[in-house]
Amino acid sequence: MIYFDNSATTKPYNEVLDSFVTVSSKYFGNPSSLHSMGGQAEKLLSQAREQVAKLLSVRPSEIYFTSGGTESNNIAIKGAALLNRSRGRHLITSSVEHASVMAAMEQLEQVGFEITYLPVDEYGRVSVDDVKNAIRPDTTVISIMQVNNEVGTIQPIKEIGDLLKKYPSILFHVDTVQGIGKVPMNLYENRVDLCSLSAHKFHGLKGTGALFIREGARLAPLFSGGNQERQMRSGTENVAGAVSMAKALRMTMDNSKAGINNMREIQTLLRGELSSFEGVQIHTPINGSAPHIFNFSLNGLKAEVFIHALEQDGIFVSTTSACSSKKKTSSKTLLAMGVPETIADSAFRISLSFANTKEEALMVIAAMKKAANQLRKVMN
Ligand SMILES: Cc1ncc(COP(=O)(O)O)c(C=O)c1O
Repeated sequence: MIYFDNSATTKPYNEVLDSFVTVSSKYFGNPSSLHSMGGQAEKLLSQAREQVAKLLSVRPSEIYFTSGGTESNNIAIKGAALLNRSRGRHLITSSVEHASVMAAMEQLEQVGFEITYLPVDEYGRVSVDDVKNAIRPDTTVISIMQVNNEVGTIQPIKEIGDLLKKYPSILFHVDTVQGIGKVPMNLYENRVDLCSLSAHKFHGLKGTGALFIREGARLAPLFSGGNQERQMRSGTENVAGAVSMAKALRMTMDNSKAGINNMREIQTLLRGELSSFEGVQIHTPINGSAPHIFNFSLNGLKAEVFIHALEQDGIFVSTTSACSSKKKTSSKTLLAMGVPETIADSAFRISLSFANTKEEALMVIAAMKKAANQLRKVMN
């Protein structure tokens, strides 16, 4: 089996599974309970928070555990928009964000907020000038992803952060779900107020994640109840999930340098080999893209059919993003980049992990050649 769909999700590290089982079975107390079992669980939760904060170079009080990227994005965007609505009702985002950002924005639009969706260039990149020109006196939130989940383009987060230093009242949210551990980013230096993480994208467990909320940034909580997570996210804490997420993040960060180099080399190999394929169009920009995502079209081949043909050889790749791949719509990111619909519909995404190898990449190339030839023969 060759798993090349790591942007959809990753295989949990064994150590992550072990810590989840250990904490769930031995330290299952509720952190809010007054007895010692509650105290033990609370201690583990605090340690996990400290570890995540240390790995992100921020304060523990700025880390809030959530169920993943979707929830973090919703809390950040809706929470910030709602709390600041008396100051303004204008938000800015890009036209290539993940569905969890887009849908949150659309929901806010339905209740009277105004959203500016910035265009992107042919590489899928937002222009800092466009951000600047879109800012209005009533702008309260700007949400731009760090790494695009479909094509891997890195957005100019540092430059946008520098621009926003002149606008202290605007909250800057960055979705780093695809970037963490693969594209370094300093939250304080980049003037990020809110940042979303999802553990299952870095070998943690599904249903675990975090939101960084910079000290002083204020949000309206979306869940009401027992006031856990310092009133930001009510509901009994997933202590085992938080501990296992901290472990996954530490293991990812520890291996990050070598992992990035390895993925970059595999991507270069794939790019070189694929460029000789008939009708290939590579969508991932050669400069300013993440090391793990590689998106391309093979003209005339239906992505869905091709993916199933590769699966017969035990190879797992994706069409666009995992959550939109079952919908029969063209990739929004590719269309926003100006890719024609017919080409966008034959786009594939290969996404790597630190553990993938060049040998696997060569096997995938050979299988793709075989599948493309067979499918083209059937079509002619
Ligand atoms: C960029 C981006 N943001 C958010 C999410 C949602 O994360 P989760 O699956 O943890 O809800 C994803 C998942 O694919 C993503 O790629």
